[in-house]
Formats: sequence, structure tokens, C-alpha cells
Amino acid sequence: MQVDVFTLFPEAFAWFLGQRHVENALAAGSEVRFASYRDWSTLSGRVVDDTPFGGGAGMVLRVDVVDAALQGFYGRDSLEVRSERRVVALTPSGRALDDALASQLAAEPALTLLSGRYEGFDERVVEHLATDAVSIGPYVLAGGELPAMVVMDAVLRKLPGALGHEQSAVEESFSPALSGRPEYPHYTRPASYRGWDVPDVLLSGHHERIREWRLARSREREGGAGGAPPRPGRGGSA
Ligand code: ADE
Repeated sequence: MQVDVFTLFPEAFAWFLGQRHVENALAAGSEVRFASYRDWSTLSGRVVDDTPFGGGAGMVLRVDVVDAALQGFYGRDSLEVRSERRVVALTPSGRALDDALASQLAAEPALTLLSGRYEGFDERVVEHLATDAVSIGPYVLAGGELPAMVVMDAVLRKLPGALGHEQSAVEESFSPALSGRPEYPHYTRPASYRGWDVPDVLLSGHHERIREWRLARSREREGGAGGAPPRPGRGGSA
């Protein structure tokens, strides 16, 4: 798969590119490239943003700058680019990223991720230059770089060869193998620690019982109530 990331901060991705599953995906034939909006801006001072029409706080990434970056990088009209590959604008108002969308994107041969900054994109970027608008959650980040890494992480780890153990991406949280439910809990050595014991069934060697136990725990976690039990003195309505 080829992933192209448009951003104001290509250097922000250095750590991400060094992650094992990303290196594995790249070694297995995937490619991640970067384009800096600023490099393609023809405006004085390589400006990329402007104040919003109608007033309001913050700056908006200009549609002409994003268009020029797409045209310059791909060497063809951005509408043609949009008809050839998924062009995903990262924005808090987009479709929420989930496992099904990550799988859908992982099946694409090529993907373009548009990171925003400031108050986000001129809406015409989303309407005319992108094929999708994707959000990584109902909160606002300072820019689209972390969301781009989140999308790439969720997508690249689904590619063959990205994870060491081929089974590990199959039966995991939200996968079809678990009917979209969260994954069951895992434990490892020591079997007993400070009186906190691993459930006996997992030590039993009885594969069918282990499987039933795991599916039951996965079902229990459905609905997001899972995780650690409430701790005294934390949270609550006090
Ligand atoms: N840019 C800023 N916040 C974002 C979010 N929650 N999802 C995607 N892109 C964003």
C-alpha cells in the first residue's frame, strides 16, 4: 500500500516511521511518503492559512494551497487524484475511525492523508478535494499529525507481515472474529503476584473452556464499561 501524508510538519512522523510494525509494513512493500503544504505554496512567504470569512478565532488552511500541494505532488489535477485514490481529510467533524473503517482503508492500494492545522481546513478541501473526512474521536487536537499517525497505525498493522504473529491482528478488539466486541483480558507470568491471581481456567490447559471464558469476558466488556473496577478516591461525583 502507498500512503502519502500531506502536512506542515513532516518531521513529526520520524518516531512513527521507526515503529516495528511500520518498518515491517515498509519492508513488505508498503510505502509512506510526505508532502509539505508549505513547499507547494506560491503565496508570499509560503503562507498556507488565512483568517476565516465571517470572523472568529484562529486560522484556516487554504483550499488553494491544499489544491496546489496535491497537484504539485502528483503532477496532475487534484480532481483526477481524488478519482484514483482515497483522499482522507483528518478533521474532528469527520466519520469516526473504527475497526471496520481501518479494514476498509487497509484494502486500498493507495491512500492520501490530509492533516489540518489551526482551526482546520477551508470546507472546500473536504467537499471537493477529499473523498473522506475522518475523525479519531470527539475532541479537538492542535493538528492532524497525530490523527494521521493513528489512522496509519490502525491501517498498516492490518497489512500482511506488519505484525510478527499473523494471528495477532485477527482475534483482537473490535475484529469480526470477536463480532466487533472488545478483546478479552490477557495475563502472563507470574501466575500470582501480590495475591492477584490469574484466573484458574487460563492455567488449566483446557482449550475449549479457555475459549468459552474468553468469549464471555469479551461479551462482558461490550458497551465500554470494561477496564479496571473503580478505585476508591478517584473520579465519581464528589
Ligand atoms: N484534527 C484535530 N482534531 C482531530 C480529530 N479529533 N480527528 C481528526 N483530525 C483532527
